[in-house]
Amino acid sequence: MVRVALGASLALGACLALGACKADASDGSVEGPKIFETMCAACHGPTGKPTAAMVARLNVRDLTSPELRARVTPELVEKQVRKGSDNKLMPALEGALTDAQIKAVAAYVASPAFLDRQ
Ligand code: HEC
Repeated sequence: MVRVALGASLALGACLALGACKADASDGSVEGPKIFETMCAACHGPTGKPTAAMVARLNVRDLTSPELRARVTPELVEKQVRKGSDNKLMPALEGALTDAQIKAVAAYVASPAFLDRQ
């Protein structure tokens, strides 16, 4: 448990140091791919497939896995981004992103175009 908590704070520290958690990180962009790069890729990886290190540290979910692709919807992603994960390993990003940005990134992650990042 201590190890998990430490991992989470390290990841958040990195994300803050990179400026990736700030509201202006995506320059007010409402383009899904750009928001993903600035707000999500630090944990989920640039293609949506997290590195082994991030999986070991935070158990970051692979957004390209068949399991997730079978059930992903814009609503699921939107809720996840607003509220974070129940175990708090993914922080709530409501407040860090505007409503329009949350909807744009959610639509993008849930769309087939997301897999074109591979
Ligand atoms: C600090 C790291 C971190 C950041 C930043 C982050 N996530 Fe996550 N995300 C996680 C972790 C960890 C999980 C797995 C949580 C769990 O165990 O339930 C996850 C899970 C998810 C899931 C899967 C939910 C499910 O039902 O399985 C989605 C979708 C998701 N994230 C989307 C995003 C999007 C979109 C962004 C950017 C707006 C983002 N995440 C930013 C760490 C992060």
